[in-house]
Amino acid sequence: MSRDIVVVGAGVIGLSAALALSEEGYKVKIIAKHLPTDPLNSQYTSQWAGAHFRPYPSKSDKDYEESKLARKTLKRFKRVAVEEPWSSIKFIEGIDYLETQGLYGVKSRGYFEELTNMKEISKDKLPKNVSFGAKYDTWIVNSPLYIQYLQRKLTFEYGVQFERQEIGSLKQVSQSNPGSIVVNATGLGVQYNGGLDPNSFVIRGQTLLVRAPKGNPYENKTITHQSSDGSWTFLIPRPLDGGLIVGGTKQVGDYQTTPKIEDTKAITSRAKVLFPEVFIDGELDIRNINVGFRPARKGGIRIESEQIDNQQLVHVYGFGGMGYETSWGAAEEVLKLVKLLSRDSKL
Ligand SMILES: Cc1cc2nc3c(=O)[nH]c(=O)nc-3n(C[C@H](O)[C@H](O)[C@H](O)COP(=O)(O)OP(=O)(O)OC[C@H]3O[C@@H](n4cnc5c(N)ncnc54)[C@H](O)[C@@H]3O)c2cc1C
Ligand SMILES: *[C@@H]1O[C@H](CO)[C@@H](O)[C@H](O)[C@H]1NC(C)=O
Ligand SMILES: *[C@@H]1O[C@H](CO)[C@@H](O)[C@H](O)[C@H]1NC(C)=O
Ligand SMILES: *[C@@H]1O[C@H](CO)[C@@H](O)[C@H](O)[C@H]1NC(C)=O
Repeated sequence: MSRDIVVVGAGVIGLSAALALSEEGYKVKIIAKHLPTDPLNSQYTSQWAGAHFRPYPSKSDKDYEESKLARKTLKRFKRVAVEEPWSSIKFIEGIDYLETQGLYGVKSRGYFEELTNMKEISKDKLPKNVSFGAKYDTWIVNSPLYIQYLQRKLTFEYGVQFERQEIGSLKQVSQSNPGSIVVNATGLGVQYNGGLDPNSFVIRGQTLLVRAPKGNPYENKTITHQSSDGSWTFLIPRPLDGGLIVGGTKQVGDYQTTPKIEDTKAITSRAKVLFPEVFIDGELDIRNINVGFRPARKGGIRIESEQIDNQQLVHVYGFGGMGYETSWGAAEEVLKLVKLLSRDSKL
């Protein structure tokens, strides 16, 4: 007999965890304030992501551990892209350009492992000012469509119930669902007794969703160009006719939900130098200005079980700018923890 599971949160993390648990036969319910088919909402990060997988060299053992979650996702996505193309997952060429090479290299720890076709781009082929470039096979998704795909699969393949509710504390969830294991996938993290994890903070991201000219050279590529001044400019085509994401910003602790004109101007002027082919008559054909908040956490991603009073909890939050790329690896970790908790409770 498996225990019932209540997942709080219907972002890419809660949905992926619910799917991994459902596939293993657990009975799952999801409670969330925002659901995948809702209109865009700044509090619901998963609607705003690019999203692509962009590996980077590990600066710490924690980074390396997170890079392994990304590899588990890569493995799963390879299969889903073929079997369920309506998931919107698509494999294409990824390119990194670094003006300052830093730790980057095609043998750097955390960067190259398990990637196929990773190659350094020869110096004579690099754009101006770039000191290191690499290309490799990677994936992109149309993030709003991907979370809707997860919700449909959970609902109609596994019978998962979705309940729209804003919760004040996890204690409240535990009291109204006695005996269940509660999975905490709330992004910035709701505490057991209410409030947010004091280690959590947001990193604002503004990107431009544009219509790019048909046949432009970046249709089947995702490119990230990191400039020596710390700014980065990236292109992420969204599969299934989702337009092109041109980004972006990383603004720590900035809660402005409305678009900033100066950010739009800065992104546009960098893109004009780096990727002029995506402009139409000298302008970007901007169809939406996206503002999202990456749910970051000091100390990185938290995936851990805990018992408070008699309630068993599994925490899975603090994914910052990597929620999509680590989503399936995180879901597998949640499944492992839930299996341990279910086993212990039977002893
Ligand atoms: C501009 C931008 C670009 C990005 N690009 C990428 C990328 O290329 N690749 C990548 O991997 N990641 C990317 N990210 C990061 C990614 O979007 C996040 O890491 C991911 O969406 C986090 O998912 P989550 O499920 O943890 O949180 P969320 O999507 O925020 O979901 C949280 C869920 O919890 C619910 N919830 C919260 N509080 C409560 C409450 N009190 N009661 C009930 N429900 C509650 C919400 O309603 C929601 O359902 C990007 C982010 C931004 C902003
Ligand atoms: C190269 O760097 C210089 C100095 O920072 C800058 O002025 C110039 O615009 C850059 N060129 C390109 C193509 O990025
Ligand atoms: C649940 O997750 C949030 C972050 O999403 C965190 O702040 C909080 O500490 C977690 N809850 C508990 C009871 O630890
Ligand atoms: C991108 O891929 C599509 C589908 O394979 C193809 O029709 C198109 O010509 C490609 N675009 C470029 C610029 O290579």
